Amino acid sequence: MEQVRAAITTVGHFLPEDRLTNADLETLVDTSDEWIRTRTGIRERRILKDPAKATSYMATKAAEEVLRKRGISGEEIDLVIVATVTPDMFFPATACIVAANIGAVNAWGYDLSAACSGFLFALSTGARFIESGKHKKVLVIGADKMSSIVDYTDRTTCILFGDGAGAVLLEADSDGYGVIDSIERTDGSQWAALCMLGGGSLNPSSALTIEKKWHFLHQEGPPVFKAAVKGMADVAAEIMEKNNLTGDDIRYLVPHQANLRIIDATARRMGVTMDKVMLNIERYGNTTAATIPLCLADWEKDLNKGDNLVLAAFGGGFTWGAIYVKWAYDGEGV
Ligand code: UT7
Repeated sequence: MEQVRAAITTVGHFLPEDRLTNADLETLVDTSDEWIRTRTGIRERRILKDPAKATSYMATKAAEEVLRKRGISGEEIDLVIVATVTPDMFFPATACIVAANIGAVNAWGYDLSAACSGFLFALSTGARFIESGKHKKVLVIGADKMSSIVDYTDRTTCILFGDGAGAVLLEADSDGYGVIDSIERTDGSQWAALCMLGGGSLNPSSALTIEKKWHFLHQEGPPVFKAAVKGMADVAAEIMEKNNLTGDDIRYLVPHQANLRIIDATARRMGVTMDKVMLNIERYGNTTAATIPLCLADWEKDLNKGDNLVLAAFGGGFTWGAIYVKWAYDGEGV
């Protein structure tokens, strides 16, 4: 019997219109365009300014684009997974709100919290429901309104993050396309290096948590940088070895966009030249769970059936991993 794999059959995305440039940040904190560009590769980010709009708004827009392009209604979706660290609320899950918004009345759904590895973990999870035959159509969404948890007085973090959402549809394929292999890792021993301390059951929201700014993202940049370089490069190399891939076999590395220097180190380790690396960090910054599907959306027209992609991410938790995908369609496809 042919092996059933989960193929990505459509990609959708949403980016807010408002741009936060390095020049804008120079007016908020003691930083410079030059420092930001050379240390991170970022020039501008998109910000969802409307305070009434949250992560579900962007996730819904990305999901609607998927449905429109695929020519299907929400009723056909079996499962909605939303990877995010900025859910609209702790509960209900943002996936429930998105499913209702798109008319996915036959679907169930849940949120997945794995920070910058969120989309990768959600793709891996969603794929299993297709491979097992349980579901026919799974929507995997990575969406984050990072501006809702960024402290715009902290120059070490506010220059990094942006808002956005990306979504993919997974469907069964028996011709060898789709998710071929995946590696997932977590190590909670360094959780404190990248976290949001307040608002959870450890430190419920209070005047104290506000005073201590625990409702904002906290990152110790250098240790995270060090772990990210090693983690992302190791796992990308491991998935290549497992699948007998060399740099020449790879059409694109699709890396999480946290820092151009981390991406550069990963590509070098894989033997992949930078012209084969999807990069949108310059335009969108680090959109956490959205970076990888946003790359896929931007590069979709350049992709062809059979292209080998390696997706790789590293994030808070720590979480990290890689997925080997054989692309299932040409250009804007279906
Ligand atoms: O996406 C999830 C995973 N996250 C990541 O992968 C992020 C990993 N970390 C990083 O990308 C980098 O650590 C940062 C971009 C956050 C920081 O870059 P760095 O090269 O590690 O800089 P640093 O934190 O070691 O700081 C170097 C200097 C410090 O000044 P002193 O102590 O040398 O005088 C900082 O205070 O740069 C200073 N600095 C800044 N200067 C201007 C820190 N932030 C800024 C800033 N503008 N925005």
